[in-house]
Amino acid sequence: MIAPIQSMKDAFRLDGKNAVITGGNRGLGLGIALAMAQSGANVAILCRDQTKAAEALEQLKPYGGRYMAFDCDVTDLRSVRAAAEKVAAQFGDTDILVNNAGVSCLSELLDMDEDLTDWYNVVNTDLNGTVHMTYEFGKRMRDAGKGGCIINIASNAAFIVNKTQAMSPYSSAKAAVCHFTHCMAVELGKYNIRVNAIAPGFTNSELSKFIPKDMFTYINNQMPLGRFGEPIEVGALAVFFASPAAAQITGTVQVIDGGYILSC
Ligand SMILES: NC(=O)c1ccc[n+]([C@@H]2O[C@H](COP(=O)([O-])OP(=O)(O)OC[C@H]3O[C@@H](n4cnc5c(N)ncnc54)[C@H](OP(=O)(O)O)[C@@H]3O)[C@@H](O)[C@H]2O)c1
Repeated sequence: MIAPIQSMKDAFRLDGKNAVITGGNRGLGLGIALAMAQSGANVAILCRDQTKAAEALEQLKPYGGRYMAFDCDVTDLRSVRAAAEKVAAQFGDTDILVNNAGVSCLSELLDMDEDLTDWYNVVNTDLNGTVHMTYEFGKRMRDAGKGGCIINIASNAAFIVNKTQAMSPYSSAKAAVCHFTHCMAVELGKYNIRVNAIAPGFTNSELSKFIPKDMFTYINNQMPLGRFGEPIEVGALAVFFASPAAAQITGTVQVIDGGYILSC
């Protein structure tokens, strides 16, 4: 069993924990990496773009932990397995896994090409990528016998149909990630591995810079809290889920979207 906290002292700290974050080189993943590093964790970033990863590692450096980057394509189980082996050998046991890597697309199903390229690209990354990582890193967490924490980055799109943006592969994949989170919480609880998900809404990242100004204004007006989220705010929630304060929390999906799904 995972011991409960005895006091609030250090209840939100991650000192000495090893966190693996897919897509930690930019956007929300980098916000999560910064939040975890500032909370005392060592961070391994898994992604494809190693130039961006090197830039991210520079940003983590001031916080005094161990920070590394590993090449990994989450859509490819062999690539994930190879990365898991390298992480174990060079970084150590994984205490915290954040499945953040994700892509989206904006097209209606009937407008997609004959190979359904958009559908498979999104589902292979957002859903199957999460499954590949959970399989490879979950087995290692189980075998290390120290328990652990898995955080899946879903989306509020799992719960709504965004009328202004057709994204059925994305919404469907993220909805599946939410239920995969429930299933894994039940399957992995006996190994003291907690599994939770975060469902962000519109959050500033490189992607959001391409949202047309009128759409940006429309979205902000729909939001009770009136602004896009910031990656560090998603990071703060991830730190909470990974921290001793959350020892009794598993199988939950927490929305962080300024109230958007209540009023869109
Ligand atoms: N931004 C938002 O408003 C928002 C809202 C809700 C949920 N989310 C979710 O938050 C997560 C991050 O989104 P973001 O906005 O930060 O997007 P982003 O800036 O476009 O970053 C996407 C990240 O995913 C990685 N990635 C994509 N495909 C990959 C693959 N096959 N293998 C390994 N890494 C891969 C990228 O790594 P490379 O650089 O190596 O390609 C990059 O680090 C996603 O799961 C997204 O669905 C975002």
